[in-house]
This record gives sequence, C-alpha cells and structure tokens, in this order.
Amino acid sequence: MKTLVLVAHPHMEQSRINSIWKQRLLQEKDITVNDLYARYPELNIDVEREQRLLLEHDRIVMQFPFYWYSSPAMLKLWQDQVLERGWAYGGGEKLKGKSFMLALSTGGPEHAYGKEGYNVFTISEYTRPFQGMANLTDMTYLPHFALHGVRMLSDEQIKESAERLVQVITDRNNHAKNFEVVFGE
Ligand SMILES: Cc1cc2nc3c(=O)[nH]c(=O)nc-3n(C[C@H](O)[C@H](O)[C@H](O)COP(=O)(O)O)c2cc1C
Repeated sequence: MKTLVLVAHPHMEQSRINSIWKQRLLQEKDITVNDLYARYPELNIDVEREQRLLLEHDRIVMQFPFYWYSSPAMLKLWQDQVLERGWAYGGGEKLKGKSFMLALSTGGPEHAYGKEGYNVFTISEYTRPFQGMANLTDMTYLPHFALHGVRMLSDEQIKESAERLVQVITDRNNHAKNFEVVFGE
C-alpha cells in the first residue's frame, strides 16, 4: 500500500508537531511526503503533478495544524484546483476506492472539543467538509488522527505521537474509532 501525505503548514520553521511528524514520515519507504507550502511558496499549484501523485497512491492523508477550525488555506486551494470536475467527480472517478484520512494537531486541549468544551463542537463535526469530499470522490474516509494541546506536550510525547501516526497511517485495516492521542490520562 502506497500512501501520499499532503503536508500543509505555512510556518514549518516554527512548528513543534508537524515538523517532527514530517521528518518521521520521510523515513518510511511506502510513504510519499508532499509538503505543499514548501513546493508552492507562490501558491502556484501544479495540478497535473498533484493529480499524477494521487493516481500513484492508494491512501491519501492530509496533515496540518488546525487553523480556525479547519486546515490552513493551502489545502482548500489544493482541493479547489486539483479535484477537478470530470476527474475526481462529476463523470470522473479517479480517486474511487482509495482511502483518505486527516492527521491534525491543535492548540486547544482535547477536552475543549465537544459540546461541554469551549470549542463546542467535536473535531469530527468541524471536519465535515473533508468527509463530504471523500464521499463525493468515492474514497473511504478513515478515522482522523489528532494530537491536542501543543503547549502542554513534551518533546518526548510529540516524538511518541509520530510513531503512533506512522502505525495508524500504514495500517491497512485502520477502521477503528477516531485516533485522538491524549497524554497524561
Ligand atoms: C492562524 C491560526 C489559527 C489557529 N486556529 C486554531 C483552532 O481553530 N483550534 C485550535 O485548537 N488551535 C488553533 N491554532 C493553534 C494551532 O493549531 C497549533 O499551534 C498547531 O496545531 C501546533 O502545531 P505545530 O507545532 O506543528 O505548529 C491556530 C494557530 C494559528 C496560527
């Protein structure tokens, strides 16, 4: 199984979590890391290249820090331009049968997400548009992988989360419940 990880972090040089995840994923031979802000600093996405990469992989992962309850803007632009009508949907079904998942980090702690928390909604609720995208393009939507509360995490915990991320991403039978990494409980 070949996996494509679309990484989107506009300030990777300041990142604690996504930079460690990216470095760890680069060590895996069946994982291709596609760092979108690094490749397209001027936001001039090469649609043909992106579509070719999608065709070459069985599982597609979007990895990003949660920004305003969604992804950084690059991933929206990527979807708008790469997932063309007649190619990904509406008469084209190039993504059919692939699996899709999100791997995201948040500033807010795990307990902030949900109706008792200050963010009110769960990560699954906030990520509905990605679920809709997978549905329309006929991809199997896998449970998300989330790491919460960046300021409360030690370097060791972040490294540990990178190992778990690799396990989850490379697991062919990954149909378990959402994988939220919670430390200290
Ligand atoms: C513009 C911006 C928007 C953010 N929005 C959210 C948010 O909606 N929810 C949240 O929990 N954290 C939010 N954060 C915090 C980031 O998610 C957090 O710093 C990041 O996941 C940490 O990962 P990193 O170490 O790879 O940068 C935001 C940060 C920035 C800069």
